[in-house]
Amino acid sequence: MTTTGIVFQPLDRTCEIQNAESVLEVALSNEIEISHSCGGMGSCTTCRVIVESPIKDLPPRNELEQDIADMRGFAAEERLACQLPPAPGLVVRIPDSFDPDSST
Ligand code: FES
Repeated sequence: MTTTGIVFQPLDRTCEIQNAESVLEVALSNEIEISHSCGGMGSCTTCRVIVESPIKDLPPRNELEQDIADMRGFAAEERLACQLPPAPGLVVRIPDSFDPDSST
């Protein structure tokens, strides 16, 4: 299946990217709640998502995200939604504390 949007699991929602600059922006503009305590500044890690689409297609981490990933020992598939550029076909899993009522 090919999609031009981003799929958010476990909500099973596909959202168009439009003018968003990050996966977090795509989520929030579609009323999908991803924690973002630092407001998307790349310092809190509460926006961590797990990428489920092929890792080789991912944009590389920027310097800010790489520093956090190194400090926290992130696996390759663990990314900060606020620093991850949106890409068509990307599938991400919100690891915890999501509101199933927002998926309707
Ligand atoms: S919102 Fe804080 S690191 Fe992404």
